[in-house]
Amino acid sequence: MNPAGFTPYPLEQVHRLIEPGPVLLVSTFDGRRANLMTNGFNMPVSHQPPLIALIVGPWDHSHTALRESGQCVLAIPSIDLAAQVVDAGNTSGRDTDKWRRFSFTPIPAATVDAPLVAECFANLECTVADDRLADDHHLWILKAERAWIDPDRRGAGEFHHRGDGTFSANAATVDLRHRMTKWQHLTHD
Ligand SMILES: Cc1cc2nc3c(=O)[nH]c(=O)nc-3n(C[C@H](O)[C@H](O)[C@H](O)COP(=O)(O)O)c2cc1C
Repeated sequence: MNPAGFTPYPLEQVHRLIEPGPVLLVSTFDGRRANLMTNGFNMPVSHQPPLIALIVGPWDHSHTALRESGQCVLAIPSIDLAAQVVDAGNTSGRDTDKWRRFSFTPIPAATVDAPLVAECFANLECTVADDRLADDHHLWILKAERAWIDPDRRGAGEFHHRGDGTFSANAATVDLRHRMTKWQHLTHD
């Protein structure tokens, strides 16, 4: 059964959600409680398998949960959620229930213990595929196991951190699919 409001999103297209460089909410479950953190350092690594690189440092409670569980959900918020998302990145789950405090709604995932974020337009259920650079560089390679999109909210689109507490969204798009001659297959639905 699909999580309420979401439909399956093709795993081979997950890079399309991450390649624009969205601010993410990382949902984890440490065995006792679910938590959320804000993430700006992320990138796609491979189309297939759908691998994503994510920086989560030991200063985050989420780091412990990610290491111990080997799982997380990457949720993609739109700009209307920006204030709550920034607050979630300035508060720790060590002492705060950020779901309740910042009005995010957890809904059960299909394959991982961490919940999806109902308010986000996309949710990627992930497992840790490679943690060899986690100690030295806090770099986690995640594999998307299941992806979900909310068709009603999809148009809102992601937003981006400019690195200084300012954010951008809804930038102009330029359609150059006809020039993607070597990469035609990426331009198809
Ligand atoms: C806009 C923004 C982007 C952030 N990006 C990252 C990031 O890429 N990696 C990271 O480890 N922390 C990042 N943080 C910081 C964590 O979200 C923050 O330390 C948070 O309080 C961790 O929560 P936790 O202790 O509940 O895990 C970011 C914070 C903000 C506000």
